[in-house]
Amino acid sequence: MPMNVSARRKLLMLPGPTNVSDRVMQAMMRPMVNHRSPEFVEVVNGITEKGRYLFQTKQNVVTISSSGTGGIEAVADALVRPGDGVVVPVFGEFSQRLAEAVEIAGGKVARVTAEQGRIPKLEEIQDAISKTKNLKAVYTVHNETSTGCAIPYIRELAKAAHEKDAFLVVDGVSSIGGYSVPLDAWGVDMCITGSQKCIAAPPGLVLIAFNNRVAEFVKKTPPITRYFDLQKCMEFLERGYTPFTPAESLFYALDEALAVLLEETLEKRVARHVRCASELYEAVEAMGLETFADRACRSNTIITVKCPKGVDDDRFKDTMSEDHDVAITGGLGPLKGKILRIGSMGNVTSADVRTTVDAMTKTFAKLGHPVREPASATVRER
Ligand SMILES: Cc1ncc(COP(=O)(O)O)c(C=O)c1O
Repeated sequence: MPMNVSARRKLLMLPGPTNVSDRVMQAMMRPMVNHRSPEFVEVVNGITEKGRYLFQTKQNVVTISSSGTGGIEAVADALVRPGDGVVVPVFGEFSQRLAEAVEIAGGKVARVTAEQGRIPKLEEIQDAISKTKNLKAVYTVHNETSTGCAIPYIRELAKAAHEKDAFLVVDGVSSIGGYSVPLDAWGVDMCITGSQKCIAAPPGLVLIAFNNRVAEFVKKTPPITRYFDLQKCMEFLERGYTPFTPAESLFYALDEALAVLLEETLEKRVARHVRCASELYEAVEAMGLETFADRACRSNTIITVKCPKGVDDDRFKDTMSEDHDVAITGGLGPLKGKILRIGSMGNVTSADVRTTVDAMTKTFAKLGHPVREPASATVRER
């Protein structure tokens, strides 16, 4: 197979990119075509339709060739105009970046902060919503990938935003596919996710779902951006096109990965994420390690663990990857050196969990910090 056979396949227990199946990798072998041809229109329309299933919406879904950060710019530019008031719960690196994207778009941000490892109280956000002048929107990260905390009150935020005639926008980059977030039922106005996490496709695409209220707003007030213009995306999507040359191979892969997701069903995929996360929490606690995220908000897709004293996160992850071909990662921003982060997303299985736990146990021992061995740790056939 014309593949880089010299690259060892590792078990990726990262908060993205995640393991991509051969079936999805092979979809990328399809030849390039005219992106304004019926063959490609079928792919784009297929992704849109499956995207509606993923986001549980009957409304608009567009796909843009970009990493998650580009999608964040797109959703900020779509609604925020200079001087608009915007409430942003900030409880980690990605929610901080979301607040900055809103500020770059000209928004006046009221941050509702929580210490790392916790989430803001719903009442604090509701209070900020009621006090913020000229409120245009609430922008929130659903699952804070830097701390392993997820907010459980998206529906309540939608309600509070709508009571002030504002929008609710959700960064679901590390949650959609691993959590059920029914956009239409909960009244979420706009939500973004990336291809490389719970969908288990390669990195490089974002899906943005938005309701007709957002669509009407951007039609009347087009965003001031060329590449990330949702109005243009919608116009072109009417013909099954993207405004600019799409990353065709990635579109093929995403289409296939979403087909796999539909075959599994969202319900079962979410249940699998919940099960694998709880197995990981159980195992790290059995090892005698302390989880970082507050129990009340800990995530189904990213497990955070405090680094035991004397353990360097970089050395730990590099040793584990080198010796066992299992990749996890360390802390981000202010948490650098303080935590280990284990992604449990996409195609993750209980066997992957056991392999990871076994590799962690052996790596702690090798680095001179032996931990208790959880009973269930066995090595996966790879
Ligand atoms: C919640 C969240 N938002 C945004 C991003 C940014 O995505 P990307 O790194 O693909 O640009 C990430 C990446 O991990 C994320 O976890």
